[in-house]
Amino acid sequence: MNLKIAVLPGDGIGPEISEQGVNVMKAVCEKFGHTATYEYALCGAAAIDAVGDPFPEETFKICMDADAVLFSAVGDPRFDNDPTAKVRPEQGLLAMRMKLGLYANIRPIETFDCLIHKSPLKDEIVRGADFVCIRELTGGMYFGEKYQDNDKAYDTNAYTRHEVERILEVGYEFAARRNKHLTVVDKANVLASSRLWRQVAKEQEVKHPDIKTDYMFVDNASMRMILEPTFFDVMVTENTFGDILTDEGSCITGSMGLLPSASTGEHTPVFEPVHGSWPQAKGLNIANPLAQILSVAMLFEYFNLMEEGKLIRQAVSASLDADVRTPEIQVEGGAKYGTKEVGAWIVDYIRKA
Ligand code: IPM
Ligand code: MN
Repeated sequence: MNLKIAVLPGDGIGPEISEQGVNVMKAVCEKFGHTATYEYALCGAAAIDAVGDPFPEETFKICMDADAVLFSAVGDPRFDNDPTAKVRPEQGLLAMRMKLGLYANIRPIETFDCLIHKSPLKDEIVRGADFVCIRELTGGMYFGEKYQDNDKAYDTNAYTRHEVERILEVGYEFAARRNKHLTVVDKANVLASSRLWRQVAKEQEVKHPDIKTDYMFVDNASMRMILEPTFFDVMVTENTFGDILTDEGSCITGSMGLLPSASTGEHTPVFEPVHGSWPQAKGLNIANPLAQILSVAMLFEYFNLMEEGKLIRQAVSASLDADVRTPEIQVEGGAKYGTKEVGAWIVDYIRKA
């Protein structure tokens, strides 16, 4: 296969983990006889500094022209601490989602046995938790009509039938490939938008008799994720609920630095770590590259290159088992590996496999 990759390293630790992701991708391509080209583009604070726009037209073109985007992270404290800033790095992320029509955000929540002790939950509760949250990404309050003056403000949580139908379908696709259990998360006891979700879901449920569909209010779902995370297989929900629940999900497993994600939809799909740009660690060679590397696995799997994805996952597990780990997950007394060293170890494992 020949793949054209747009690489968007972004801000903070972004460029460092991006480099390791690309190295792993190159090693896998070489191993399996694929070719790939890499076109780099600016986004986030780096793009604001260079051209005053967090998702410049040039970057958009490069993304549209690619088969996949390998994205790292955006965000910079200079903008967070400045309430008067007219443009912010995060707007680049939202613009990218909208312009590429990335309506489905796929966030796997996985446990790694050797990191379970890092979970804030008890071992027996979290062990074996393995589910995917499918978050709707281009609708709801994020993009609905907004208003703000000194006395009043609102955001509109609007959804159309079409938007709900297509994201539920993604949920059913994942459930069919996994353990055939889909949980639709909404707030249908209060919100009209949620009642439309539930109505559409009930219609779609009968078309998927092989999948067990259940319905859960979002407040209950947030509780269930803590009390019994192993209950879930695939969860599908709207944009804002998904934003909140996936942060909860990413930390209950104790392996936040290892979680990748994919955003797919109308145009080029984007693969990125769940974690942010961690500006304080920039340039220190301490950031964990595993979430980025696992995003490369998701990228291959998106193109049905399952063996390629599997080899990356194996390499990542092997690195953890060998205690080749960045400082935040290293065992006591273990050697401290940097971002580059972990990446290089994984590349080497792939070459020798
Ligand atoms: C996420 C982030 C973004 C969101 C922010 C940075 C705009 O929190 O990807 O979950 O709210 O969607
Ligand atoms: Mn979020």
